[in-house]
Amino acid sequence: MIKPTVVITGGSSGIGQELARVYAAHHYQVYTLSRRVYSWKEVNIRHLGCDITKAGDLQLAASEIAKAGHPVDILICCAGYGIAGVTEETSLESARQQFDVNFFGAFLTIQNFLPLLKKKRGSKILFISSVAGEIALPYQSFYSASKAAMNKLLEAWQLELKPFGVKVSSFLLGDIKTDFTAHRQAQASHQPHYRKKLANSIAKMAKDEQTGMSANYVAKVIFKRSQRKYQPPVQTIGWQYHLFLLLQRILPRKLVLFLVGLLYA
Ligand SMILES: NC(=O)c1ccc[n+]([C@@H]2O[C@H](COP(=O)([O-])OP(=O)(O)OC[C@H]3O[C@@H](n4cnc5c(N)ncnc54)[C@H](OP(=O)(O)O)[C@@H]3O)[C@@H](O)[C@H]2O)c1
Repeated sequence: MIKPTVVITGGSSGIGQELARVYAAHHYQVYTLSRRVYSWKEVNIRHLGCDITKAGDLQLAASEIAKAGHPVDILICCAGYGIAGVTEETSLESARQQFDVNFFGAFLTIQNFLPLLKKKRGSKILFISSVAGEIALPYQSFYSASKAAMNKLLEAWQLELKPFGVKVSSFLLGDIKTDFTAHRQAQASHQPHYRKKLANSIAKMAKDEQTGMSANYVAKVIFKRSQRKYQPPVQTIGWQYHLFLLLQRILPRKLVLFLVGLLYA
């Protein structure tokens, strides 16, 4: 019997790694893509070295997977990282890098895997986004902007893909305990006005993440939802994030920003 295939970017750590384990346990053929050299002991998971900012790497990975002769049932764009710091002090280089991975990297991944996704009606693209893409966070402005930009790109793209039967969904996730916290590239401020606020805000983000949901729990929920025929354009996990996103939609924007400011600014 042909196993269904899932491709997961960012499978070498955190949420992506747990997703790979969960799909493999459900007898999927899993491919994980990330920059690190990584090997799996599970026979149905294969890691391919790939930097998602490099179109050539993605082309090679897609052609390697195409050799198996099977369509891709699910593509999960999970690779990503966050920068933090004072917006006015952010260098163009680090802002561009943030977009290169979280936005253009996700775009290039989907672009390269679409031919394999289109071979199967009902195939799915799941983008691992963030609540921060809907509710902008101070001192994480470029991270928020990169996720928000991808959310919007996917809202438009899914309308184009509808005739091919390719479904698209963005998971707006909240705080999850992973190495995301350790991988965050935080830039200290050189202005006394910001120093304490920035340090407090980053410390709160880190604490919320490290006391957040487990990556294994999140992976199991994503797996379960991915088996459904209907995929909402955006979804979240956890009652508190359902509530935050609902309030964000119904409250005046000024009040939302005031509340976020109390928490993070
Ligand atoms: N943790 C949270 O609280 C949280 C909340 C909301 C959303 N998210 C999102 O969840 C996703 C996964 O994050 P995580 O929490 O699992 O963090 P993580 O443990 O730091 O994992 C990040 C993954 O992304 C990969 N990656 C980064 N840059 C890459 C590149 N240029 N090319 C290929 N792979 C790359 C890393 O692999 P290599 O280093 O091997 O390349 C790693 O496997 C991210 O998109 C993040 O924005 C996380």
